[in-house]
Amino acid sequence: MFEIKAKDMRGRVGLLKTKHGDIKTPNLMPVIHPRKQTINVKDYGADIVITNAYLIYKDEDLSKKALDIGLHELINFDGPIMTDSGSFQLSVYGDVDITNKEVIEFQEAIGTDIGTSLDIPTAPYVDYEKAEEDLKITLERAKEAIGFVRDNNYEMKLNSVVQGSTFPDLREYCATELTKLDADLYPIGAVVPLMEMYHYRDLVDAVMHSVKCLPDSKARHLMGAGHPMIFALCVAMGCDLFDSAAYILYAEGDRFLTTRGTIKLENLTEMPCSCEVCCKYTPDDLRAMEKEKRVKLIAEHNLHVSFAELRLIRQAISEGSLMELVEERCRAHPMLLDALRHLGEYSDDLEKFDPRSKKSAFFYTGPESLRRAEVTRHLNKLNEMDKKKNLIVLPAYRKPYSKYLSNSFKEFFVYAKDESKGEDEPCIIENHETDFMVLDIPFCLIPLELDELYPLSQSDAPKIHDKIAVDFTRDFLVDFAENYGNVLIDPKVLDELELDYIEPYSNSEDIKFEKDDIKKLKAIADYQFGEGAGEALFTGEIKIEKSKKTGKIRHIYDKNQNIVNMRASDSFLILSKLGAKRLASLDGMRNKVMIDNSVESFARDGKSVFAKFIKDCDENIRSNDEVLIVNEECELLAFGKALLNHKEMLDFKTGQAIKTRKGFKKK
Ligand code: GUN
Ligand code: ZN
Repeated sequence: MFEIKAKDMRGRVGLLKTKHGDIKTPNLMPVIHPRKQTINVKDYGADIVITNAYLIYKDEDLSKKALDIGLHELINFDGPIMTDSGSFQLSVYGDVDITNKEVIEFQEAIGTDIGTSLDIPTAPYVDYEKAEEDLKITLERAKEAIGFVRDNNYEMKLNSVVQGSTFPDLREYCATELTKLDADLYPIGAVVPLMEMYHYRDLVDAVMHSVKCLPDSKARHLMGAGHPMIFALCVAMGCDLFDSAAYILYAEGDRFLTTRGTIKLENLTEMPCSCEVCCKYTPDDLRAMEKEKRVKLIAEHNLHVSFAELRLIRQAISEGSLMELVEERCRAHPMLLDALRHLGEYSDDLEKFDPRSKKSAFFYTGPESLRRAEVTRHLNKLNEMDKKKNLIVLPAYRKPYSKYLSNSFKEFFVYAKDESKGEDEPCIIENHETDFMVLDIPFCLIPLELDELYPLSQSDAPKIHDKIAVDFTRDFLVDFAENYGNVLIDPKVLDELELDYIEPYSNSEDIKFEKDDIKKLKAIADYQFGEGAGEALFTGEIKIEKSKKTGKIRHIYDKNQNIVNMRASDSFLILSKLGAKRLASLDGMRNKVMIDNSVESFARDGKSVFAKFIKDCDENIRSNDEVLIVNEECELLAFGKALLNHKEMLDFKTGQAIKTRKGFKKK
């Protein structure tokens, strides 16, 4: 019932399918009060709502009506409706008059689209024993509910809520156990108190540990989250749905929601946005108004702001600028900035879900950007790369760096690595034994051959560097230099990083960076597909065709047979048939997705690959990567563009996983 359409970090634009219509995610489900509702949320962009089945059940009149005319008519909403089970009442009042089984039966009977079992929302910071005890009951009830829904062929879909309080291991355990049940959606529960206390840093832990162990093929819902200030951050962590009564509760307290926080009407001198309400009324108009009318208008503003933020988030995911938005939003409150900084601890996990290339450029917005997935990925790649004997570190001028550097370098200093300090080893630099890299923030070192590749070229940072970024870059360089025999550093770099050196470099000949297209192509291939890919791809009589307009490499041939093309926007290599065949010769599962032999002919015919037929997959695959499609004997059948990453490919049982470019017909 869930499909991914676009991705950025762990955030996804998805499609959630229900019998009352499909909904785009990320989305917000406004809470509808089954008796008191006065605002028609559909008019403000709500595609799906949530209401409380327990409140309906407890009210004799409402319960009768719901069973009679159905939930959709009762609350006058013809789109999908989710219902909660009374767990929240349980957490507030300590008790509810309904059993798990009864609430499941009742939700189906009134025609809910998505129902919820009676989980126990364990408060944050309780004793471990208490959290464990509650969790046991939550898991038993989730199991009972799934059994009941499946045994009775219920039409409604089922939520299984992740609990575990503020204990990462319990969150992980709960998510792992619930995944085995194969529920339809996975809410993350008991986070409301964390949000009320502004403990966003602990919210990051609760969400990240839950999401890590949940299936990627199901929608995740952050229960009770309704402040637009935190939507972008939570989406980047993998949340697809939010629900909240915040829009109305805040309105009742004369408070306006904005993406920068909350504003009280009494402090308002200007209306905070350009929604219909803010354009039509002044703060004085509202203050003079009777309460009921005023609450309705503020609630309308609150809904407008929330849905506008979700549109912005979906747009950001589609263009690949979600983290720029998150970094902007998290500057609205110091506790949110803490959360963003803490999210950096999860960079390795987030990197696995982040596409390697995006439509929009990478913007450095502050030291938090140093922990972005793109930076982590590049530094990991640098550390894995084969290294030559010497390293030359050059300053960054304009991008692409190699275009604005002179080819010949005269002045250098010999960098004093710890073990070489004081030694007077001869420093003989041979060009063919030398890695040439530019030093820049935030990607630290950029091999000149890779200077057009996304995001190394498609990125920007302020020219006035902050100390944290300078220290970060220096620390990386110092560690990295250990891999080399000699390290020569340009005086400008030395100055910028305040590095120690032994002596000026002197040699009778200048050092030259020789631009070599084949060397460059091989370096890009190795970076993109793994070590050895360059040698495998570019053999024979290599011919390179360049763009007349930009001078950039476009097509690469062996004699007259196309091997790969270079995409202008990000300089990644796009396979053609010969390239795919050559790349397939690399050992093991590298760049490969194995599909069931029963669908071999579809792939050979060039048809797209559906996730349910995937048997195995290289764990380095990210969405949008070029991938090879092989059968169970590892024979190459076709190649194309991955729509999902490795984990998602193995997880999804529906929908497309690879958009096939071409197949190899059986002769
Ligand atoms: N609403 C807010 N938090 C929760 C939760 O943990 N469980 C349920 N069922 N509903 C919630
Ligand atoms: Zn407004």
